[in-house]
Amino acid sequence: MSDLTALKTKYAEQIDSADSLQALDDVRVAALGKKGEVSLQMRTLGQMSPEEKKVMGPALNGLKNELADLVEARKSVLEADALNAALASETLDMSLPVDASVGSLHPVMQVMEEMAVIFADMGFAVAEGPDIEDDFHNFTALNFPPGHPARDMHDTFFLKPDADGNKMVLRTHTSPVQIRTMMSQKPPIRIIVPGRTYRCDSDQTHTPMFHQVEGLVIDKTTHMGHLKGCLMDFVSAFFETDVETRFRPHHFPFTEPSAEMDVRYERVGDEIRIGQGDNWMEILGCGMVHPNVLVNCGLDPDEYQGFAFGMGVDRLAMLKYGMPDLRDMFAADGRWLSHYGFSPLLQANLATGLS
Ligand code: DAH
Repeated sequence: MSDLTALKTKYAEQIDSADSLQALDDVRVAALGKKGEVSLQMRTLGQMSPEEKKVMGPALNGLKNELADLVEARKSVLEADALNAALASETLDMSLPVDASVGSLHPVMQVMEEMAVIFADMGFAVAEGPDIEDDFHNFTALNFPPGHPARDMHDTFFLKPDADGNKMVLRTHTSPVQIRTMMSQKPPIRIIVPGRTYRCDSDQTHTPMFHQVEGLVIDKTTHMGHLKGCLMDFVSAFFETDVETRFRPHHFPFTEPSAEMDVRYERVGDEIRIGQGDNWMEILGCGMVHPNVLVNCGLDPDEYQGFAFGMGVDRLAMLKYGMPDLRDMFAADGRWLSHYGFSPLLQANLATGLS
């Protein structure tokens, strides 16, 4: 028995001091391998008397198990050490500093971000929809009946008709996302929809692809006063100064009553100054959602009401940041971008200022 105690001490020490998985395995083989010292001892059991066997059998088995447990425990420690060493030596520094002098945020993206920040502060969520729309969402559900002249005002890009003669369109405005939202969400609804829109038009103030931000609020009590307050707060926050606004009656098929909102401005040389002067500039369309639109989306106009608005992002970006020609925005000229672009590392936020 004292032999076994000595064996145990010897191998326990060796296991404990094994400093690599290989060294540990060598110790394991020396003790418990086929020709290991403990295994050889076990073979002698056959030649023992039954009394001896009764004592030595369990003792040897116990020793074998104890050493096997020690090997396993040491193995876990060595494996953990190996993993930690690998992690330490193989780390990839994902936080490599970006060279912010290369690449910048396009002013349109910056302005959409600013708008999202302002409206988020008023409790609006951001919704999106597809650029390729069907006639129902782009026109019919928005109360443009088939053949209605207002459809022609949109200079629509049509896709090739399908087998049934249905033509998909490149959405002419972000308003179809109003329909998608009302059909998939229960009021109260409070969303803005930033996105690309398309019309067959190109000159100094029009590009075939441009950007809009749509807004929609639906609940049971919202009225025209909320619409005006919301948009007046928005423009002052957006231009980062007090801006006087004016609402003029207008017509859109999907709102009743409808209005356009103008802001006071002045031209000083080449510069346009928003908020002062004697001129008015139209910046967005808005109105109370037309009862027909609510019905088309399965909402009861006697129960629900709300307002909507839509504005051109590119033009607001031009006004805010003094860019003279809309077409330059999408010419992908690196010089233009490095002049008018924004740092991708500085996120627009209300606390430190938008821009
Ligand atoms: N969809 C209109 C356009 O592209 C803009 C618009 C006007 C949107 C009034 C609205 C709105 O939601 O209420 O010209």
